[in-house]
Amino acid sequence: MFHKLVMITFLTYYVNAEDNILEDRRLDFLGLAKKYGLLCEAHEVITEDDYILKIFHIPGDKTRPVLLVHGIIDTGDAFIIRGNSSLTVALVRKGYDVWIGNTRGNEYSRRHQRLNPDVDKEYWNFSFHEIGVWDLASKIDYVLNKTGQIQISFIGHSQATTAFFALASIRPVYNKKIKIFIALAPIAFLHHLDSSPMREGLLAWPYINYFFTKINKEEILGKKSLEKYVFKLLCSQKNAYEWCVKGLMMPINGYDLQEMEPEFWYVLLGHYPSATSLKSLSHYQQIWTKRKFCQMDYNEYRNLALYNSSEPPDYDLSKVTTKVALVAAPNDRMSRIEGVKYLKQFLPNVVDFIVLGHKTANHLDFTYGKHMHLYLFPHIMKLLEKYI
Ligand SMILES: *[C@@H]1O[C@H](CO)[C@@H](O)[C@H](O)[C@H]1NC(C)=O
Ligand SMILES: *[C@@H]1O[C@H](CO)[C@@H](O)[C@H](O)[C@H]1NC(C)=O
Ligand SMILES: *[C@@H]1O[C@H](CO)[C@@H](O)[C@H](O)[C@H]1NC(C)=O
Ligand SMILES: *[C@@H]1O[C@H](CO)[C@@H](O)[C@H](O)[C@H]1NC(C)=O
Repeated sequence: MFHKLVMITFLTYYVNAEDNILEDRRLDFLGLAKKYGLLCEAHEVITEDDYILKIFHIPGDKTRPVLLVHGIIDTGDAFIIRGNSSLTVALVRKGYDVWIGNTRGNEYSRRHQRLNPDVDKEYWNFSFHEIGVWDLASKIDYVLNKTGQIQISFIGHSQATTAFFALASIRPVYNKKIKIFIALAPIAFLHHLDSSPMREGLLAWPYINYFFTKINKEEILGKKSLEKYVFKLLCSQKNAYEWCVKGLMMPINGYDLQEMEPEFWYVLLGHYPSATSLKSLSHYQQIWTKRKFCQMDYNEYRNLALYNSSEPPDYDLSKVTTKVALVAAPNDRMSRIEGVKYLKQFLPNVVDFIVLGHKTANHLDFTYGKHMHLYLFPHIMKLLEKYI
């Protein structure tokens, strides 16, 4: 009898735990928000170039709006997938009015007023440049309009930082709309990166790009794409943690197994990776090759037409006059501390430069790490309170 009871208790516990995990893998942003007790609404933001973006809003104190934007091949889910230990929940508990963006091309924002992403190549004609100059600008204006404020706080991860640096240098009026820009794993220059799979990929990029262009592929990691199918198939196998996490994700982003436990990997697979454009990757590849933070390099003829110069112009970082807090992770192989220090000298208004205390913290821990409520969120809360 006793054995049976123990067995039943154990099984119930095990099955429930399993259900709980499986559920988070399957739930979308609104589903996760509901599960973790947040009242969330979805809004549509239309950019000046007619992209239709989804932005999530968890209402709080309207005088303290915070906008969160995710990195490349990611979605707004990044900020809620850790549930009760996620940044979204932490900010809501502190009373902030929280807005979570989705960049063009990802599963929530794969829409346009005129263009069809499935047919029109033009839809995929974007990189972090357009994600900054159009998407971020429209999101910032939308939040300002809805809250009636003149400034918001902005938190970006990885590509969202590149996009914001582009926006603030090309359209400097946006500097005035931001109280504080908290740049997590900031990237403007890429030549300090130290990740061998990434370097191999970047070296091979001209060939990969040529091949994809030949087969008319503009969207990468789309819902029905072969590369996504293969990734999901391989990375949800029994040994996936060995192959995909230890063998691929960690070599690219930095080793930190502590912060990405096996159960979480299977949850994450329901949300990551998401789609982006081939051009996004090409623009980053150029920045890495050129060791410069500059606009997209086309052929000489088009460069002349677009920029009145045969070389693409650098983004003028001296125009990024908003208050910037740079947050780096000691074991981040993409946005290395060295690289962030290099970037810092070009920025005129850096108010803080934080290196996370967790020695093995990597590029993805900012959004996906298990203990960011201990290592990262206290820094964010302090910055938001200080620059209110
Ligand atoms: C999240 O935390 C809240 C408050 O501590 C708790 O009531 C709730 O049960 C937790 N939700 C989940 C799904 O763990
Ligand atoms: C893509 O955008 C660039 C720069 O704005 C432009 O020169 C080019 O014609 C566009 N290409 C397509 C296929 O729309
Ligand atoms: C927000 O935008 C609408 C439509 O353009 C406008 O009528 C309204 O006055 C704006 N609200 C604020 C607070 O700026
Ligand atoms: C283009 O560049 C040339 C040489 O730098 C300069 O003389 C000219 O004024 C520029 N034209 C425009 C339209 O900016």
